[in-house]
Amino acid sequence: MKQLIAIFAFIFILSSCEKKSTISSETFNPEWNESFPGVWKATINQPEEFNLLSVANKAPRSETLNKKAKQDFPISTDEIKTFTKNGKTYLRFPLEIEEQIYGFGLNFKTVQQRGRIMRLHMDHYGGKDDGRTHAPVPFYVSSKGYGVLINAARYIDVYVGTGVRHDSKNPATVYDRNARDGWSAQPYSDNLEVIIPADGVELILFAGETMLDVVQRFNLYCGGGVLPPKWGLGFWHRTPTLFNTEDIQTEVSGFKEKNFPLDVIGLEPGWHSKSYPCTFEWDKSRFPNPKEFAKQINSQGVKLNLWMNPYLSPEGILYDKMLPYSGSHTVWNGIVPDYTMAEPRKIMQDHMKKYQLEYGMSGYKMDEVDGYDRWLWPDVASFPSGLDGEQMRQTYGTQMMTLTDEIYREKNERTYGLIRAANAGSVSYPYVIYNDYYNHKDFITALINSGFSGLLWTPEVRASRSEEEWLRRMQTTCFSPMAMINAWADGTKPWSFTTVYEQCQEVAFLRMQMLPYLYSTFADYHFNGTPPFRGMNLEPGFEVDTKVEQTKLDATKNPYAEAVKSEVKDQYMMGEFLMVAPLFNMDEGRKVILPKGKWYDFYTGEYVGNGEIIQVENGFEKLPLFVKDGGIIPMMPKIRQTSEWVENTPLEIRVYGKTDGKFVLYDDDGKTFNFEKGEYTTKMLKVENGKGIIEDLHNSAGWIYGEISWKFMSEE
Ligand code: GAL
Repeated sequence: MKQLIAIFAFIFILSSCEKKSTISSETFNPEWNESFPGVWKATINQPEEFNLLSVANKAPRSETLNKKAKQDFPISTDEIKTFTKNGKTYLRFPLEIEEQIYGFGLNFKTVQQRGRIMRLHMDHYGGKDDGRTHAPVPFYVSSKGYGVLINAARYIDVYVGTGVRHDSKNPATVYDRNARDGWSAQPYSDNLEVIIPADGVELILFAGETMLDVVQRFNLYCGGGVLPPKWGLGFWHRTPTLFNTEDIQTEVSGFKEKNFPLDVIGLEPGWHSKSYPCTFEWDKSRFPNPKEFAKQINSQGVKLNLWMNPYLSPEGILYDKMLPYSGSHTVWNGIVPDYTMAEPRKIMQDHMKKYQLEYGMSGYKMDEVDGYDRWLWPDVASFPSGLDGEQMRQTYGTQMMTLTDEIYREKNERTYGLIRAANAGSVSYPYVIYNDYYNHKDFITALINSGFSGLLWTPEVRASRSEEEWLRRMQTTCFSPMAMINAWADGTKPWSFTTVYEQCQEVAFLRMQMLPYLYSTFADYHFNGTPPFRGMNLEPGFEVDTKVEQTKLDATKNPYAEAVKSEVKDQYMMGEFLMVAPLFNMDEGRKVILPKGKWYDFYTGEYVGNGEIIQVENGFEKLPLFVKDGGIIPMMPKIRQTSEWVENTPLEIRVYGKTDGKFVLYDDDGKTFNFEKGEYTTKMLKVENGKGIIEDLHNSAGWIYGEISWKFMSEE
């Protein structure tokens, strides 16, 4: 026996030596292997097997990626350095003087990230862009046309152009602080540095013709963007806590009487027999017959979405079954199942299928999967799969996405819902991020940032201090991935602010009219990885305009200090042609930056400018919207629910400017996954020499539109 132990001990020592020997503490240049055109992978020392993309578990869209143009490796490989020491892996990438960095997940206050120090750490956003956010995605995009994904489910420290090395190739001039001007508290830094608390890491580097091309490749690599069901893009309303079946029916009827769009009603806490922690069982007093209730609501063209947090109540039937598969710590006295394991996944999935999906529930709002520290399991928590608290925290949102996505796929029914935590790799999952923070301007900055990181974000509407604020918020939610009022705490309704009701109604109907455009925009997300909502920096003409001029700089100055002045975080693109310039509460008008090329007013078709800054006056009852020259926006009649978007729907194709343009109009059954097997229809809408033409591209799902008219909006 002793001998046997000695042999085992010897083998163990040998194998751990072997492991150690492959971890180099020397600094070296990673080796990059091309996986697709413009996509390279580097494996540094010994990456953990569990990482962000392994949790997301989606294959890259290889066919599309392989058709992309070849790219040269965008940085000098000699200048990318790494080493692993004391359980941490260090990375250094060069930054050029005028280079700008975007991304790093769901930031709320900043778009340009050069000059920032962050720990990318899953959390509820707390008011500072310090890396603690609902989607701390370790992916950044450079204005030089490349992007880097650090594929690790760890808290990652990033120093984005802040560290100054004594051996820098671009040293800053040293000044005497007291004796002369030019001294800088933050001397110029020419690198981006990263620390990953692990013995290695996998890196994926993307190069493209433009930053948009880089983001597209990143999205395609992670599986391509989600295509929501049609109803998901209609109007959503979440009812107050503890509402029962009658209250909900009254709410649904109210929308009909007031003639306000409604596709989805969200149930907040109160449908579970206990929450929080949750039982996932229906409360019998409020919902005596949930199946019948769902049938009745669904028959009025309205889907039901269920709020939940994943922490299981000791009073529920799932508790005992899940206890052996749960982490060491509780959250609000509920156990935390380890969904990286097959058994608990199956238990939960079977339960959801039996008591929720089979009853006709269309999806979930998955709450509290992000933080705050005191509300979640601590990092000392352990989980039965062997993962630690940190790995769980960085990925729990993604785990919940995959768990629920699988059961809807099994039914061949698309879902669309909400989540409070996402990470790299969640791009193809049908979830939109939301939170409890409520600054309107910052909500728009988050919408812009979502587009750099493969995320969807909703600026949901809750209470407002004034009519004007209510209207402005309603306008922006209608121009986002999910148009929604979240009345869980205050019971507001679209008509709560009577003096602006008509304008609210108008903008909600405008969203409905634009669904053919928006749905096609999401198809572009799915097929080509193009973010449906994105910042102006991803617009090619815009980048040129706001780029820091090199002549203004010398190495002694901070390039990011200059660049921050040109940071645009309050206007954005929806799809290929439409620019949205929100007004905020009590704004006395606003400045709108028009990228190069002619721009037109969406409502009137009038020319508004070209590569310049224009002033939009307040009093505008409408949300300021602008269309690019050659823009084509297909619109349908004002329907209240997507159930009215049926065969023979007439289509008005609006054309802006005088330049020839084209737009791919997409359609499919709007609810199943058959489109993934090729069952969809695309037609090219084209304008050539002032004439509208429609060409067939792909036709295997029929054609939903009836009479088609072209409307040329611009005289000039
Ligand atoms: C919060 C969530 C709100 C609402 C509430 C219900 O955590 O962010 O939107 O769902 O819980 O208790």
